[in-house]
Amino acid sequence: MSTDMHGGKIREAATALGIPGDELLDFSANVNFLGPSPRVMAAARRAVGEMGWYPLDPPDPLRRAAAGFLGVPEHRVALGNGASELIFLTVAHLRPRRVVVLGPTFTEYERAARAWGAEVDTIFALEERDFAFSEEHIEALAPRLAAADLVFLCDPNNPTGDLWDRGAREALISICARAGATVFVDESFLAFTEVWPAGATLRRPTSAFAEASEQVIVLHSLTKILTMPGLRVGALVLPEALVDGFMPRVPPWNVNCIAQAAAVAGLEDVELLERTPAAVTGARIAAAAGLRGISGVAKVLPAAADFLCMRLGVPGAREVAGRLRREHGILVRDLSDFPGMGPHFLRVAVREPADNDRLIEALAEVLSGALADGFTGAPADGRSGECADGRFRERGARPIMADFSVSSDCSSSGGNAS
Ligand SMILES: Cc1ncc(COP(=O)(O)O)c(C=O)c1O
Repeated sequence: MSTDMHGGKIREAATALGIPGDELLDFSANVNFLGPSPRVMAAARRAVGEMGWYPLDPPDPLRRAAAGFLGVPEHRVALGNGASELIFLTVAHLRPRRVVVLGPTFTEYERAARAWGAEVDTIFALEERDFAFSEEHIEALAPRLAAADLVFLCDPNNPTGDLWDRGAREALISICARAGATVFVDESFLAFTEVWPAGATLRRPTSAFAEASEQVIVLHSLTKILTMPGLRVGALVLPEALVDGFMPRVPPWNVNCIAQAAAVAGLEDVELLERTPAAVTGARIAAAAGLRGISGVAKVLPAAADFLCMRLGVPGAREVAGRLRREHGILVRDLSDFPGMGPHFLRVAVREPADNDRLIEALAEVLSGALADGFTGAPADGRSGECADGRFRERGARPIMADFSVSSDCSSSGGNAS
C-alpha cells in the first residue's frame, strides 16, 4: 500500500497539467477551509528565521497548547510529525500480534500494522447501512474484536464522513476492555463537528470508558483543523499506563520549528477554532443538498465533518475525477481503489460556499456529459480506467441508472483490505 491512497496531490496534478498548483481547486484533502489563520502564517514566517536552530525538544509550549485544546493532562500528550507518524509509533510501541480495523476507513492503520508484522482482520460495515456500525453489529462481532490486541476505529470516519453511533462505540470499548484489547480512536476530524468538544471520547467518560480507561488511545490531527498539511502536527493522548513506555520512543525533533510555532499560534486562535464547527456544518449541508440535486449522483452519505462521500449512479469515479481535473482544474478523491468502497464512490472536501458551488456546477456538467454519451462507467476491457485521450470510452452499452447492487458488505479477513 502506498501514499497513492491519499488525496491532496496538488503538485502531481499541476505537473501533469502543466499549470501552477494554485490554479487548481483542491477538494481531495480534508483541511479546514477557514484556515490557515493569519496568526499561523505570521508565526510560520517568523520561525523561518530560526531555521538554522534545532527545534525545541521536548516541544513544551506546543504540548501545553495541544493539551489545553484537547482538555487532557499535558503529560499524556505525545506529539508527532502529523497524526500519521503517531499511528506508526503506536503500532511500533505496542507490537500487536493481531489488529482489527473497522472499515472502510483510513488506510494507514492497516499499513502500520502490516509494516510491524501484525495480522490484520478488517471488518467492513454494510453499504446498505451507509457504512455505519450499529450496536447490534458490534455485539455480534465480539469474538473477532476480543481476539485482537489492538482495534482501530475512526470517528468521524474517513472516507465515509459520519460519526460513530455512540452506542456502537461504547459497546466496542466495553468488549475490548473485557478482552484486554487496546482501542485506538482516531478523532482527527472531531473538532470539525458540532459534537466537539463534548462528544470527544476523553471528555465524556462513560461507564464503558471507565472500564477501559487504561486501554483507550485517542489521536488528533492538528494538521487538518489548523490547515497546515505541508507542515504537519499530530497529538496522541495516551492512557497513564502507556506514558512512560511510549514517550522515550518518540524520535527527537520530530516536529520541526516552523510546525511548532505555527501550531501554537493556530491553537491560540480560539475564535477561528470555535467558529469552525458551525461554519463547516452550514457549508456541508448546503453542499450536500447541491450534490444530491445532480442527476448522476445516486446518494450523498450522511456526514458530520468537513467532507462528503457520494455514490455515483455509474461506476465511473476515476473517469469523473479525471475529467474534473483536466476540464475544470478541480481535484476530488476517487475512491475506486479504496478498500471497501469501489468505482461508484467519490469523496470531496467541504470548502467555502463559492468553491462548493463551483464543484457542484462542474460535477453536474461532467456527469450530464457522461449521461449524454451513454456512459456506463465500465470500459470495454472490463476495468475502470482513465482514457488516454481524456474521453470517456464506452458509449451506449448500458442504460444509466443508480446501481446499488455492488455492496462492500461482508467482513473480510486480512489481505485485501486497508
Ligand atoms: C482519519 C485520519 N487520521 C489521520 C490522518 C493523518 O493526519 P496528518 O496529516 O496529521 O498526518 C489523516 C489524514 O488524512 C486521516 O484522514
